[in-house]
Amino acid sequence: LNVVHVASEMAPIAKVGGLADVVASLAKAHQATGLLTEVILPKYDCIHYGEVHELRQMTELEVPWGPEPNRTVKTVVWSGCADGLPVYFIEPHSPEKYFWRGKFYGEADDAARFAFFSRAALEFLARRSHEAPDVIHCHDWQSAAVAPLLKETYKASGLARTKAVLTIHNLAFQGHVNGTFLQHMGLASRAQHVAQPDVMLHGDRPAGGITITPQGLGAQVTLNLLKGAIVYADRITTVSPTYAREVLGQALGMGLQGTLGKHQGKLTGVLNGLDYETWNPATDPCLPAHFTPDDTAGKRACKAALCGELGLPFEGQLPPASSNGNGNGSGNGHANGNGTGAATSAWGPNGRPLLAIVSRLTEQKGLPLMKAGLRAAIAAGAQVVVLGSAPEPKVHQEWEALAKELGAGGDGRIVLRHDEALSHRIFAACDMLLVPSMFEPCGLTQLIALRYGTIPIVRETGGLADTVHDVAHSRRPEHERNGFTFAAADVPAVETAIGRAIDAYRNGREWWSTQLVPRVMRQDWSWTQSAQRYSEIYQAALH
Ligand code: ADP
Ligand code: GLC
Repeated sequence: LNVVHVASEMAPIAKVGGLADVVASLAKAHQATGLLTEVILPKYDCIHYGEVHELRQMTELEVPWGPEPNRTVKTVVWSGCADGLPVYFIEPHSPEKYFWRGKFYGEADDAARFAFFSRAALEFLARRSHEAPDVIHCHDWQSAAVAPLLKETYKASGLARTKAVLTIHNLAFQGHVNGTFLQHMGLASRAQHVAQPDVMLHGDRPAGGITITPQGLGAQVTLNLLKGAIVYADRITTVSPTYAREVLGQALGMGLQGTLGKHQGKLTGVLNGLDYETWNPATDPCLPAHFTPDDTAGKRACKAALCGELGLPFEGQLPPASSNGNGNGSGNGHANGNGTGAATSAWGPNGRPLLAIVSRLTEQKGLPLMKAGLRAAIAAGAQVVVLGSAPEPKVHQEWEALAKELGAGGDGRIVLRHDEALSHRIFAACDMLLVPSMFEPCGLTQLIALRYGTIPIVRETGGLADTVHDVAHSRRPEHERNGFTFAAADVPAVETAIGRAIDAYRNGREWWSTQLVPRVMRQDWSWTQSAQRYSEIYQAALH
């Protein structure tokens, strides 16, 4: 099987969020099983090129793109190797400088940038001398145009037998282009069909009807790229079983629930996995100390180091040589190094808990609940640390103000930037991670937290509901229970869950000696099972 991922992100070289982690780690998991796997990315100027090996110009293409059929954009395709994966980079030389913007997203012409990327990726695959891929795997709206283009524009090319698999990581973003782009995408001759409400038309048919011209459609018609991929893809996945059900309803269907309902037969929820090499507390090069489920001592050393780094008082105890099962702290724990013994004894054997948030700071992630949760945690005696990236300047400013407020009190640190290495240190050092999302297709931070013995406190939605099971009220067997969950999207619910977590932490018995930390570290959130599910889905697409 030969699979090409067409994607807008890939960790670690081009990462905004979880999409990057999933593209890289799924491709690597498949590569390890012998599947031929390649990735096509835009050649952004802001890629970490230091981590791309053997980067070289491979070929030059004229990609059809423009309001007339004979217009093309000169495009250079580069090849390289990142994290052991073969990667191709699409570099258009057009006046718009689509990928020379110093950032990945957030441009007024995003939909055009990524529709171009999708077309150029197909043009490259159709022209290269290799065998055509069996499957092109596209991800989210940014490469969604691949599916309709493959089935319409490229149906008579060398890609005639190639199948399209779409993964929806987040239905909130869909990609809208106006009707004039039909010509750019080589779909003008199919305007009549494509402009149907059950194909690519965004929303309902306009009152005045749709006028079809030789160029396709006018600017007053809006086309929805993700909808097109849902309609045209051979198979669709989303990133957790619960989200696969949620997107069929009005609350989280984001207007596409009807289209998804019609194509439900192609839709499967496959839980994301984690790259267990990148996220391994026993070997992680970003950490000052290492730990395993059998010896968690290094976790407390990571906490002491992080507190030092961020200027928070370290109010925990360094653990005994092997803290496994020894929650009573009797005798052989070291006193903490900075003279806060009084606080430690008031808190019992574990010292004060440190609660973290590592997140994009957007509405999806539950901004008001995050703020309420941080305040509640501090009020209950915990320390808090936030690593957040806010794409919207207004949100960034609000969180700067909160950083000042919490910083002044001495119990909170908020770092507002994207910082991969710091995120590793936080996952390792903290006792709890708060994820109060409004919706969450899968979520990776709760999985990373579990791997690092950091207990998640999450809202029961999407993939969070599939992966975190409450220590008290879950109906799952005890060995599957791994966190604190709440259902309502309101402040009392998040406050109660945080209160329960802090109470449990205070009681060393429940936290360490009933093995909660080592137990969650032993759960398996690797790609092993999910990569197999994807292989089956590729096979199903081919038959
Ligand atoms: P989403 O993709 O919706 O942002 P996920 O939980 O799937 O959410 O993935 C988020 C990924 O981005 C995780 O790997 C997380 O550690 C990382 N991340 C989020 N914010 C930051 C940040 N400010 N700095 C470093 N990594 C971050
Ligand atoms: C999206 C979702 C997140 C998911 C990630 C990777 O960004 O918001 O829940 O984990 O994609 O699939």
